Amino acid sequence: MGSKEDLLFLFLMFLSLSSAFSSKNKHHKPCKTLVLYFHDIIYNGKNAANATSAIVGAPQGSNLTILAGNFHFGNMAVFDDPITLDNNLHSKPVGRAQGLYMYDTKNTFTAWLGFSFVLNTTDYKGSINFIGADPIMVKERDISVVGGTGDFFMHRGIATIMTDAFEGEVYFRLRVDIKFYECW
Ligand SMILES: *[C@@H]1O[C@H](CO)[C@@H](O)[C@H](O)[C@H]1NC(C)=O
Ligand SMILES: *[C@@H]1O[C@H](CO)[C@@H](O)[C@H](O)[C@H]1NC(C)=O
Ligand SMILES: *[C@@H]1O[C@H](CO)[C@@H](O)[C@H](O)[C@H]1NC(C)=O
Repeated sequence: MGSKEDLLFLFLMFLSLSSAFSSKNKHHKPCKTLVLYFHDIIYNGKNAANATSAIVGAPQGSNLTILAGNFHFGNMAVFDDPITLDNNLHSKPVGRAQGLYMYDTKNTFTAWLGFSFVLNTTDYKGSINFIGADPIMVKERDISVVGGTGDFFMHRGIATIMTDAFEGEVYFRLRVDIKFYECW
């Protein structure tokens, strides 16, 4: 082989190695996984004792009792929702999901989420922080797990969320499939 062909060979080797390396990186295994559910009961003017979330922002022409038309665009809700290990609202909570969501598209249902899981059980103590766009109509959507505290110190990853139940405009339940790709 001439030196030009040697160089080409080396170059091709390098390309195939680097692509193998990056695709391996994309599919590496989570270092920790966790599946949890949380339950959101939206205040509707009649369920003050039972409600776990409140509309705190509404577009002009609507109010804080009923979610607005136009796919709720412009509504913002703050929540303090129980977290459970299974999909039963009445199971013993293992923590609280606390944060906000806002509806942010005018012609379909999407939301933007920013919240924390605050856990205080014998298995897990600490918080996990989530952020991201939620295309609600999609069955499985990913949001970022941007960090944590306590048992989740310096943890990062992805959470796949699924709407596990949706009852009227009052109750919904999300299944959160957390995959940490960075643990400490
Ligand atoms: C809020 O808006 C809804 C829908 O337009 C209406 O039925 C309800 O009476 C309003 N509530 C208040 C407290 O203004
Ligand atoms: C966690 O629970 C323990 C026992 O109930 C309590 O003493 C502690 O203050 C709680 N910690 C937080 C951060 O809520
Ligand atoms: C609280 O809300 C949930 C969800 O809508 C409902 O299943 C439950 O019956 C309510 N409980 C009370 C006491 O109203």
